[in-house]
Amino acid sequence: MTTETTTATTDSSLLRPHAEQAFADELRALAAVDDRPRPPSWRLSPWAVVTYLLGGTLSDGTVVSPKYVGPRRLMEVSVATLATDRALLLLGVPGTAKTWVSEHLSAAVCGESTLLVQGTSGTAEEAIRYGWNYARLLAEGPSDGALVPSPVMTAMRLGSIARVEELTRIPSDVQDALITVLSEKTLPVPELGTEVQAAKGFNVIATANDRDRGVNELSSALRRRFNTVVLPLPASEDEEVAIVTRRVEQLGAALELPAVPAAAQEVRRVVQVFRELRSGITADGRTKLKSPSGTLSTAEAISVITNGLALSAHFGDGVLRAADIAGAVLGAVVKDPVADGVVWTEYLEAVVRERADWADFYRACREVHA
Ligand SMILES: Nc1ncnc2c1ncn2[C@@H]1O[C@H](COP(=O)(O)OP(=O)(O)OP(=O)(O)O)[C@@H](O)[C@H]1O
Ligand SMILES: [Mg+2]
Repeated sequence: MTTETTTATTDSSLLRPHAEQAFADELRALAAVDDRPRPPSWRLSPWAVVTYLLGGTLSDGTVVSPKYVGPRRLMEVSVATLATDRALLLLGVPGTAKTWVSEHLSAAVCGESTLLVQGTSGTAEEAIRYGWNYARLLAEGPSDGALVPSPVMTAMRLGSIARVEELTRIPSDVQDALITVLSEKTLPVPELGTEVQAAKGFNVIATANDRDRGVNELSSALRRRFNTVVLPLPASEDEEVAIVTRRVEQLGAALELPAVPAAAQEVRRVVQVFRELRSGITADGRTKLKSPSGTLSTAEAISVITNGLALSAHFGDGVLRAADIAGAVLGAVVKDPVADGVVWTEYLEAVVRERADWADFYRACREVHA
């Protein structure tokens, strides 16, 4: 007979554990030292949730890793919002960690980040309200057993956080299903003559993309039920380098990529290229640039470097070199072969070529761009 203890340690065969699994130890340590008041059914106090997000050292010596790098105030406002009767809308350009913050907030507040509605143009009302198991519906008629709750309904029952991704991609009439939920905190089920009333602790975190604005505008009735927090692009190059370095390390460890020695120089270069093209001006402020059509987000910088690490570990000499990242940089910048191709060639010839210490990068880019 085996005596199995249920520990919250993560199954290492998982490709991507949920936040509450991956950081179970930190969450447990935080709960243990956290003696501040917790809102009803929260696992942690608002102070501890913010510490979980931004990192810090606890009174018992536990080091909490930073998840979000950026202004503390934004996280404080986000967490405080969740403790009120208003829902939270995280807004920002692509790759500004909206989804990431939403997952970690849910994990820290209620220990559950998986009650998720992925918004698309095809999202139906059932995804926000409830659906039916048709076999049982036909056999039994409308019954509790035939009802298939949505993640939102489950969150209401449990007093947890429901996450709605890409809210503005959802058709407006479907978005409106959220209005009753958010204002009345109840979800009627007319077929059964009942309703689900939200337990204390229930709230919604939605994310939406700045660039998609206008796809399906948020109705003003719905907007009034959200507090909006805009997540900015990293303020400085150093901050962005720090974010990319940390995430690349974590991803490399999760993917079990062979270790590649510190790639600090290439990380900085990719971040600089992305920031310059994004802002339309070189870091020294001397040369105006055209911006490509893509977003060149921090998230893309992370995947360019991770890609380069895989190349250098498996096909290179085990050191991250310009040649390992040139292809991925080109792929990120040139989304439209004609217009972006011109932007990239101009940048390459007018800026990259002139930088004496970038000769290896220039050569590598010329080779892939040929
Ligand atoms: N300020 C930041 N702090 C920590 N990580 C960040 C930050 N900005 C970006 N990232 C990282 O970028 C990656 C992408 O973030 P995420 O997918 O959450 O972006 P998003 O805003 O939801 O983008 P999209 O609009 O494309 O859905 C994540 O791995 C996240 O860790
Ligand atoms: Mg997202």
